[in-house]
Amino acid sequence: ANNMQESFNFELGFALCTGASPEDDRPPIPVNFMVPKKEISMVPDMGKWKRSQAYADYMGFILTLNEGVKGKKLTCEYPISETVEKLLSLLGTLDRWIDETPPVDQPSRFGNKAYRTWYAKLDQEAENLVSAVLPSDLSAAAPEIAVYLKEAVGNSTRIDYGTGHEAAFAAFLCCLCKVGALRVEDQLALIFKVFDRYLQVMRKLQKTYRMEPAGSQGVWGLDDFQFLPFIWGSSQLIDHPTLEPRHFVEEKVVNEYHQDYMFLECIKFINEMKTGPFAEHSNQLWNISAVPSWSKVNQGLIRMYKAECLEKFPVIQHFKFGSLLSIQSVKP
Ligand SMILES: *[C@@H]1O[C@H](CO)[C@@H](O)[C@H](O)[C@H]1NC(C)=O
Ligand SMILES: *[C@@H]1O[C@H](CO)[C@@H](O)[C@H](O)[C@H]1NC(C)=O
Repeated sequence: ANNMQESFNFELGFALCTGASPEDDRPPIPVNFMVPKKEISMVPDMGKWKRSQAYADYMGFILTLNEGVKGKKLTCEYPISETVEKLLSLLGTLDRWIDETPPVDQPSRFGNKAYRTWYAKLDQEAENLVSAVLPSDLSAAAPEIAVYLKEAVGNSTRIDYGTGHEAAFAAFLCCLCKVGALRVEDQLALIFKVFDRYLQVMRKLQKTYRMEPAGSQGVWGLDDFQFLPFIWGSSQLIDHPTLEPRHFVEEKVVNEYHQDYMFLECIKFINEMKTGPFAEHSNQLWNISAVPSWSKVNQGLIRMYKAECLEKFPVIQHFKFGSLLSIQSVKP
């Protein structure tokens, strides 16, 4: 376990492995994988979470990627590894299952029960899907990592989706990095391909089954469903020569640039889903459009993400901890 930690650049808060080539210096494979479980059952447990190795690794991962995408377009060039290809194929499978599971007739417009049929397939297949992504010598990690995938697509009892589910997907990717299946050179593909494809599939789930926003703060929240693409998306726009935060509320700008910037893709989806003046249905974002620079927007969103998601008991109570994202306290 000590060797494994040395392979990560923890000094910089990096959770991604850094190595010259994919095979030769992967961290030694740990043998103590475990099925992750809940550890935060009461509000006073939140301190344990904030001090945990999992919190440090999770935040390090988010911030590493935030640095990695700074100033970069979705359409820029980057390498695509075999693991990334396999992740895209996994997400393609989830997408195809939506087509194969049409919504059913039911009295309520919201929370279509066909979602539960779709979810049952994932529940059954998650471990196989994750095994297919992992190199064969890491197959012992599949049961641990698959739990995060199952938590990342919404709640099948409530038929809702929110930032806690989104966090589980980031945790899923973080675990793939920690075992060395994904590497630092995958970071652009990780956001621009894998996370972007994940968002497409989640939007299709939200629309097809009319999922409810989980723990939504209504007009006080940033967005009904997502948070991370606004963080990484605002980082992409830092120091852009012409686009300023005040432009993202203009539909013309969104239509012209959404293929290059994740932030604008999110705004485009909001424009499609909501009616009425932007300032009313998305008041928080409207206020953010008055912030003078993208770097200030980015810093503000990171602060807000910690306060509104990672420090909220209703979100974190569902988070699961294992050997890769551990509840153990960070060593001083
Ligand atoms: C889904 O929601 C139900 C009902 O609120 C809850 O008991 C359950 O723990 C949730 N499941 C997950 C995976 O969050
Ligand atoms: C947006 O700004 C206005 C004016 O300062 C304020 O009244 C409102 O509460 C803000 N909205 C949100 C969602 O914070």
